[in-house]
Amino acid sequence: MSTQKFQAVRGMNDILPDQSGAWAFLETTLRRWLALYGYSEVRSPVLEPTGLFVRSIGEVTDIVEKEMYTFVDSLNGESLTLRPEATASCVRLAVQHNLLYAGPQRLWYMGPMFRHERPQKGRYRQFHQCGAEALGFAGPDADAELILMTARLWEMLGLKEVSLEINTIGSLECRQQHRRKLVEYFGQHVELLDEDSKRRLHTNPLRILDSKNPALSDLIEGAPRLMDALDDASAEHFESLQALLQAAGLQYRINPRLVRGLDYYNATVFEWVTPLLGAQSTICGGGRYDGLVEQLGGKPTPACGFAMGMERLLAVLQETRTEPLPEPGPDVYVVHQGEAAQQAAFLAADQVRSAGFAAVLHCGGGSFKSQLKRADASRAAYAMILGEDEVRAGQVSLKPLRGQGEQKTVSLAQAIQLLRT
Ligand code: HAM
Repeated sequence: MSTQKFQAVRGMNDILPDQSGAWAFLETTLRRWLALYGYSEVRSPVLEPTGLFVRSIGEVTDIVEKEMYTFVDSLNGESLTLRPEATASCVRLAVQHNLLYAGPQRLWYMGPMFRHERPQKGRYRQFHQCGAEALGFAGPDADAELILMTARLWEMLGLKEVSLEINTIGSLECRQQHRRKLVEYFGQHVELLDEDSKRRLHTNPLRILDSKNPALSDLIEGAPRLMDALDDASAEHFESLQALLQAAGLQYRINPRLVRGLDYYNATVFEWVTPLLGAQSTICGGGRYDGLVEQLGGKPTPACGFAMGMERLLAVLQETRTEPLPEPGPDVYVVHQGEAAQQAAFLAADQVRSAGFAAVLHCGGGSFKSQLKRADASRAAYAMILGEDEVRAGQVSLKPLRGQGEQKTVSLAQAIQLLRT
């Protein structure tokens, strides 16, 4: 028989047992946090019609131009795309199921997203986002709540070294006007632009401002600023947002160059950034997208939201938390020796679980010493020991594996009682 070994697709990670504790901790905290703010979970398919993303994210964005996993379903010829983000999916879901007829909606999601980017630390081709979308809220209080909410999450998680950047990109009209000014300005300095920026000059000049090329930084610094051409409504919205953030004592920096890489935004945009992840500095990004619901076939509905990259969050958490992330093990690991003990251990483990405690039964024999090593490696709080002596006396020994405490030989019922204390 020929054999073949496979590797996961490049940029798509396995989550292994020694990492899943940290993931579970993050997911549990996120669920608790989202519930505190009255958000309801939605789950949408990872595959959507390609047009959904092209229309909402924008045809000349990096994501749509070169990062989507798009293929034709050979069974019916439909063009499908693995979701690169879920705001579009969330709006599609709300419109399709008429959720907004019942009034504004606060929705959240968590799950894998797919972008064909060059993998590096903090940047993967399958990554996970947790996002929240507030649909049907026009006022700056909704934007402020979303931002404050993320700040409170960092506290809950013990996350440090993140800072907030905000900006307003105004209305569609004032962006178009700004765009014309940018094309004119960069057009006058075309010889200074790199290939990427030249290409963007007529497709998406706003993205030139986002360029990481240091050779362009002076040119970008001198570019016309959107802030200077802002429409009154956006300026007022931004002022009120800032007043709310200040009232909540939140520190932030206005970054006039913050434009975000998706086309659906207007007015508020924000990002939480960290110096710890090199080039992948954004752990959470979002903003207002008042035109998207209508663009995707719904009634005109103002909206705003954010999404955070869970891999990036975990990476920053691992570096900045004072306490290590939990690596949970079972409550007891049951070790045994001899035939009678094997059966007694099998039944004891069953009873421990019925009492609501996690029990791992040692399988595969071996000396007590090697079994206890396994017990320790399982991160169990206790080893439950059943040797010939214990079985004869109708008892078990409970040996604490973490911290202080003595081994006790007692009845199984008493041992379960000890687990409760
Ligand atoms: P985004 O900025 O494209 O926004 O992604 C949000 C977050 O996902 C980023 O800040 C980053 O933490 C994480 N992320 C993005 N790409 C990758 C990658 N290749 N590998 C690892 N992490 C990544 C959105 O997706 C919008 N839907 C956010 C939003 C929601 N706006 C309004 N509502």
